Amino acid sequence: MPWWLVVLLVIAVALLLVAIHDVFQRKHAVLRNFPIVGHFRYLIEKIGPELRQYVVADNEEERPFNRDQRRWIYATAKHQNAYFGFGTDNDIGATGHVLFLHSTFPISGHEHAAGMELPCTKILGGWRDRPAKFRPSSVVNISAMSFGSLSGAAIEALNRGAALSGCLHNTGEGGVSPYHLQGGDLIVQIGTGYFGCRTVDGRFDIGHLLETIEGRPVKAIEVKLSQGAKPGMGGLLPAPKVTAEIARIRGVPQGKDVASPASHAEFDDVAGLIDFVELIASETGLPVGIKSAVGQMPFWEELASQMAEQNRGPDFIAVDGGEGGTGAGPLPFTDHVALPFWMGFSRVFAEFVNVGLHRDVVFVGSGKLGLPADAALALSVGVDLINVGREAMLAAGCVQAQKCHTGHCPTGVATQSKWLQRGLDPTSKGVRVANYVSGLRDELIRLSHACGVCHPAILPGDAVNVADGSRGTLSAHEWFDIDVEATVLEPVVVKEVMEVMDPRPHVGHEN
Ligand SMILES: Cc1cc2nc3c(=O)[nH]c(=O)nc-3n(C[C@H](O)[C@H](O)[C@H](O)COP(=O)(O)O)c2cc1C
Repeated sequence: MPWWLVVLLVIAVALLLVAIHDVFQRKHAVLRNFPIVGHFRYLIEKIGPELRQYVVADNEEERPFNRDQRRWIYATAKHQNAYFGFGTDNDIGATGHVLFLHSTFPISGHEHAAGMELPCTKILGGWRDRPAKFRPSSVVNISAMSFGSLSGAAIEALNRGAALSGCLHNTGEGGVSPYHLQGGDLIVQIGTGYFGCRTVDGRFDIGHLLETIEGRPVKAIEVKLSQGAKPGMGGLLPAPKVTAEIARIRGVPQGKDVASPASHAEFDDVAGLIDFVELIASETGLPVGIKSAVGQMPFWEELASQMAEQNRGPDFIAVDGGEGGTGAGPLPFTDHVALPFWMGFSRVFAEFVNVGLHRDVVFVGSGKLGLPADAALALSVGVDLINVGREAMLAAGCVQAQKCHTGHCPTGVATQSKWLQRGLDPTSKGVRVANYVSGLRDELIRLSHACGVCHPAILPGDAVNVADGSRGTLSAHEWFDIDVEATVLEPVVVKEVMEVMDPRPHVGHEN
């Protein structure tokens, strides 16, 4: 019998067996009714996201990050040409579109500014005079993403990127792993599971925290109250994911489910939160802040007023938008719980303006702010530092496959599979993360220069506008309901910042 007949026979028998299986199985109606061809439906459903992403969707369509945004991040991270040809494909007069009003006399010499520092305009821990207060040298920093939700290789790439670009790297709530120790400065996050700082029964243990940070480049501590993608609920790391390494780093038993409760066991009101923050700050000497999504407002009113009355409390407040990312979260929470960043931030900021603490507390923002226009806008309306999460993942090789919750991330970023992680080289991806962070800073400087100032926090209130969709614009402050006076920096602060950025005399015009 010729070989091709054998092949045909084998295929025919295989198809017959599949057809028999399809007809007699009871799980899938489509296969029972349409044996063999029904499988194409499942195949197309499976590869549908990739087809849409690479073939169907237009440049502006996809979420969370559209193709143009991803292309800008990838090109910046690879130090390739990040310019776009032929002009915008956005409707730049559409409602909500952000417009920077340039100066007729912009600051020249961006080439000379490339790679320049873009420091925070506030001193972290300055208000409470913490022993280890400092001025963050980068307004762009890497957001909390734990070892466990991200692979060791990805954490290593992020930390290498932080070291090379001089930004801070937040550990996330999974403790400090060896992958976090590649030279980048750290903010250690404490979540409700108190991983890396807990007793055996899951309560907070200050002694364990001191051991965890001892001899490590920890610059600040962040107490996580909630994150935008899934506020008000806890988390569970299932037993199979609790490897010996993760168990050791988190301080939990190996091979058993690990629960992060919805709320903290150490405090259940604002006074308790302030005491907790102060305890950690006094024991460690470090600035201590909180991270939270924005939900019910009485909490923020009370926090601001108690901080003002007692002159104590968090050194920084990280506001995470409801549009923020997560390794895994239920749809009603990712889609519907917590305010989007802009609404949440303006409400929280207003509470601190009311009590006069807005110039003391450092405000950190996250929720798709890792692109130049969004970051510049945020910095111009009172945000002091930008945290980038998924944008940094993209720089490290993520392709927005949105499979973080399955453990099968194809790029090795959000998985514990050794095989998939093999594809991610932390050294070269670390360089990409650094290029992205410093490229974003460069673009922020360039936007500021076009508007005649040297730092986005100095952008005058009327320089950032938002189109109202009916041939008019509102200033960003009006649009987001933010007190413009409250965001004007004092001249002494401007002078200090400009000196840090560039000790040489500055050419240009302050509007
Ligand atoms: C994979 C992944 C893991 C995360 N893990 C944490 C975490 O451990 N703690 C936390 O506070 N936020 C966590 N986040 C939220 C991010 O820190 C950030 O607040 C959010 O994604 C918004 O920023 P982005 O829009 O720049 O991603 C995680 C996000 C992602 C995508």
